[in-house]
Amino acid sequence: QELVAIPQPKPKPIVGNLPELDADKGVFRFVELAEQYGPIFRLQLLNRKLVVVQSQELVDELCDEERFDKELNAPLRNVRDFAGDGLFTAWTDEPNWQAAHRILMPAFGPASLRDMFDGMADIAEQLLLMWERRGPEHRIDVADDTTRLTLDTIALCSFSHRFNSFYAERMNPFVESMVRALVESGARAGRLPGQELLMRGTRKQYAADKELMHRVADQLIADRREHPLPEGRHDILDTMLTATDPKTGARLPDENVRYQLVTFLIAGHETTSGLLTFTLHELLRNPDVLAKAQAEVDRVLGTEAPRFEHLSGLGYLDQIFKESLRLWPTAPAFAVTPRADGTVLGGRYELDRDDTLLVVAPGLHRDPAVWGADAETFDPERFSFERAEMLPPNAWKPFGNGQRSCIGRGFALQEATLFLAMLLQRFDISAADPDYQLKIKQTLTIKPEGLYLHARRRDVRI
Ligand code: HEM
Repeated sequence: QELVAIPQPKPKPIVGNLPELDADKGVFRFVELAEQYGPIFRLQLLNRKLVVVQSQELVDELCDEERFDKELNAPLRNVRDFAGDGLFTAWTDEPNWQAAHRILMPAFGPASLRDMFDGMADIAEQLLLMWERRGPEHRIDVADDTTRLTLDTIALCSFSHRFNSFYAERMNPFVESMVRALVESGARAGRLPGQELLMRGTRKQYAADKELMHRVADQLIADRREHPLPEGRHDILDTMLTATDPKTGARLPDENVRYQLVTFLIAGHETTSGLLTFTLHELLRNPDVLAKAQAEVDRVLGTEAPRFEHLSGLGYLDQIFKESLRLWPTAPAFAVTPRADGTVLGGRYELDRDDTLLVVAPGLHRDPAVWGADAETFDPERFSFERAEMLPPNAWKPFGNGQRSCIGRGFALQEATLFLAMLLQRFDISAADPDYQLKIKQTLTIKPEGLYLHARRRDVRI
């Protein structure tokens, strides 16, 4: 096959293809551009270049870890300024990534997830009790409440710390700082060199936000050193502070533990609350799916309090989350870079060694060659056992790829499944605004904005 140039919109002087982007549409703008330029195109954004890829055929190649490695694209490099060499923003060849990966992977494995079940149920119970007390007329702010849920859950399950977000009017200051810092990390990637120097207020706010996040993390570490857990109890923070790398025998440096804490608080809740919010949105506009989900919960849980053993019986809920992550992957992109010079993609596109290739999941997950002409339709049957088996490799990538894929995948799905099961067991839900049109708020993650629901207690005694 002959080499061909990667398509690119005509660049303007200095800004290049920056005018092609649209802050309101965010990552979905890349999906639009694919209609015009195809499943692979190049963009010149100020002084950096990006190759955007959105077909299963090409992404499948990018997932070959012998040929490609995770790249920190511009927004992620900015996040590294406050998340340091924590797992998410570390380079694969950094010794701290490898050590933390070896130490922390088992801490999120099946045995640990079983131990975390009670903590997850504890926080879910708090939220559902609040909904019940507020009554069926209350307008539930879905994104806000699920953000409190997931923040409190990751903090309790991994650090044995209670943020008690449901007892506070305002969102936890850590979340406010984190959201602002994430927005700023994205915005910086699109600014002209030197532009920041003029933005004194923004810089000051960013510095304060970074400082607050580090202070919260350092405080958690100091508290733990002063008050160790009782004999026989363990959590992730313990593992971070005391476990030794099975390969080198070394512990994680204190500064690295701080960065892991910030990383887990960020990565551990923003995406999962987005998943729950998108899923509830889809359930509200697909009554047949909602009814089927509730029937499964009634069959598996009945009137029993949820137990770990129930989870494996909730296969349809799992299909719902997979389909939700297909259409609305809440961490919507990840980047890779070729390991060698002269790498050729798809037998025809020659890449530079310093190219950043962005896998845009909302585009990949709508590839008509895989998902058909009705790719926009929400249909959990796509993930029935028989049909999921037929999917080609690397067609569904909401958790990233290979050794750099999400460490919290099992955690997130267990938390989401348990919460949805408890919710449907106790409540009938309905849209507070039946005409709600999906509006997506984008930071580094995506989340529906302005979604409200009503929850009416069902007549079940648990
Ligand atoms: C990595 C998605 C929940 C912790 C990733 C990546 C994606 C992702 C796409 C790869 C990023 C890249 O290649 O640059 C999600 C989604 C979640 C979720 C969609 C929920 C639905 C969680 C939770 C935790 C977590 C609950 C913590 C308990 C991490 C960490 C990494 C990561 C630490 C970096 C792993 C490494 O490179 O070693 N996640 N995530 N995530 N995620 Fe998640």
